[in-house]
Amino acid sequence: MRVLGIETSCDETGVAIYCSNRGLLAQALHSQTNVHAQYGGVVPELASRDHIRKLLPLVQTTLKQAHLTRQELDGIAYTSGPGLVGALLVGATFGRSLAWTLGIPAIAVHHMEGHLLAPMLETVKPKFPFVALLVSGGHTQLVAVEKLGLYHVLGESLDDAAGEAFDKTAKILGLPYPGGPELAKLALQGNPKRFQFPRPMTNRPGLDFSFSGLKTYTWQTLQAHEPADAQTLADIACAFEDAVIDTLVIKCRRAMRSTGLKTVVLAGGVSANQRLRMAMESMIVQEQGELFLPRPEFCTDNGAMIAYAGLMRLLAGQQEPLEIKVKGRWSLQDL
Ligand code: KG4
Ligand code: ZN
Repeated sequence: MRVLGIETSCDETGVAIYCSNRGLLAQALHSQTNVHAQYGGVVPELASRDHIRKLLPLVQTTLKQAHLTRQELDGIAYTSGPGLVGALLVGATFGRSLAWTLGIPAIAVHHMEGHLLAPMLETVKPKFPFVALLVSGGHTQLVAVEKLGLYHVLGESLDDAAGEAFDKTAKILGLPYPGGPELAKLALQGNPKRFQFPRPMTNRPGLDFSFSGLKTYTWQTLQAHEPADAQTLADIACAFEDAVIDTLVIKCRRAMRSTGLKTVVLAGGVSANQRLRMAMESMIVQEQGELFLPRPEFCTDNGAMIAYAGLMRLLAGQQEPLEIKVKGRWSLQDL
């Protein structure tokens, strides 16, 4: 079975074709960085318009790469939430209409389920059950994953998501959009011993997160050192990154111990962060567990994870009514 996956929830147009026998056949991605850079963040209306421009050519490129015609597709999966409603509508309208004209099923995929299953795009796949630490621009969640579609959210961010905190802090440090990877790059030059930032909500029980205070802490540290030289900016970036990573690792270890699960999946855009990947690896070794990570290109938004999630749902026999529906907000637990 060959499934076309379409991702248009935010600022990336992602398309891929995943085959149940042969794995990933082709993929294409268009990043809207240039569209939004001058505004310092994603402008929803511009995102929708750019998806409209790019989606069809990307689907054509992907089919060509896979040496397939559209008639050879067996299903279409598209992200239907959570995300920017206008952007989601582009993928949903296109995906369901194309499926209807081809007489094949269409499947609405939860964006975070796509992220959660992304490590399954690799050769060595995690086995259910496992703990998933999902860290993206919109979400930070610890999830107990029993099986496909059965998810218990153990904890989540009460305010900014980890990626959002990276992006906002990058802005405070004067870095260009998209801030997360830029801040990570700057942090590599930093001295980790110079500043010590708090690890929010780690000194009380529970698995929820709160990252918005770190942004304020960064701003105050910067104010106290104005005018900041390049080394000070790097030292602050490093201290911020350490605080986020340490907090994520502490809570993930706690989730493993409270559930008794030894298998962990780390996914979502922030999981592309090299220092987070290394810190998680060493915690998992200490806990004698097993860590599964997507390669960096499958950490951030992409069509492959949506194609894979859609394929799994189609193989499980899921069927949907002929309707185009998207959800800006949508809990994984409602799946
Ligand atoms: O999953 P994703 O591509 O989109 C959402 O679903 O939100 O995640 C994007 C987020 C952004 O906040 C971005 O700054 C962050 O992931 N990100 C990173 C890195 N690469 C992407 N944050 C820290 N370090 C990175 N290397
Ligand atoms: Zn995402």
